Amino acid sequence: MVLEARGLIKRYGSGVVALDGVDLEVGEGELVGLLGPNGAGKSTLVKICCGLVRPSAGSATVVGAPAGSPAARAALGYLAELFRFPGWAAADEVLELHQRLSGSDGGERERGELLELVGLADARGRSVETMSKGMQQRLGLAQALIGRPALLLLDEPTSALDPVGRRLVREVLLELKRRGQSVLLNSHLLSEVELVCDRVLIINRGGVVTRGRPDELARPRGVEVETAGGTRLFEGAGREDAPRIVSELVAAGESVYEVRVLRSTLEDVYVQAVSE
Ligand SMILES: Nc1ncnc2c1ncn2[C@@H]1O[C@H](COP(=O)(O)OP(=O)(O)OP(=O)(O)O)[C@@H](O)[C@H]1O
Ligand SMILES: [Mg+2]
Repeated sequence: MVLEARGLIKRYGSGVVALDGVDLEVGEGELVGLLGPNGAGKSTLVKICCGLVRPSAGSATVVGAPAGSPAARAALGYLAELFRFPGWAAADEVLELHQRLSGSDGGERERGELLELVGLADARGRSVETMSKGMQQRLGLAQALIGRPALLLLDEPTSALDPVGRRLVREVLLELKRRGQSVLLNSHLLSEVELVCDRVLIINRGGVVTRGRPDELARPRGVEVETAGGTRLFEGAGREDAPRIVSELVAAGESVYEVRVLRSTLEDVYVQAVSE
């Protein structure tokens, strides 16, 4: 396992229980999404995996090394949810600094490739203070990718991005997957998580309330048929039931105008999971 967390509990000094016994695994080349309302404990979980926050109980390992140890830190890239690079630094300088901090010997070539990957090839010499929020966030993502870490911990990497920027990040995530790098992604964008993640965990008030593959979680909700007499919902029916439903309606003399197989979306699953 690239990331393995067992029984994580975090009680902050204020008395807040941010995590209440969370288990989590991320395998090689796996993309795992972490969903949950504000304050659920997502960032706390990611920070424990980075070694920035010490758990009150339980443990986490990155490529087998204890979270926070030099070996664990060397194997991961992190994009924090709120970060700020020095305004005066150029994109290229920010990356160079982080190459030095992380001991990457990728040099100019790595910086060029990363800026290209996040769509900032033309902004190499631009200072951070002249960049839009979305550009800064993409620069932050490039920073996390320095040294080709085995594990990426991305805390809401698309929160400042426009739709095109989000798509670019989705493509970057899929590229990382092809290269065998693993990702733990915090996001509030359910459709995005649904599109790229292999597995999803929904956490609420510090505990995992639902986990599974997005397509498993989003179950069939029924078949809806438009007839001359109005819209009829056949609850619990799936795609395979549609031909029979239609032929029975037609045999009963109904005119059928439209048939829709309804699936619950990840959003439905999420809303249900966090309101229980
Ligand atoms: N340093 C801290 N000291 C005290 N309490 C904290 C600290 N950091 C987080 N908390 C509390 O722990 C809980 C979980 O916070 P966390 O930031 O992990 O949530 P989150 O799921 O990332 O939320 P969001 O979606 O808003 O980013 C919240 O109640 C928060 O107020
Ligand atoms: Mg957070």
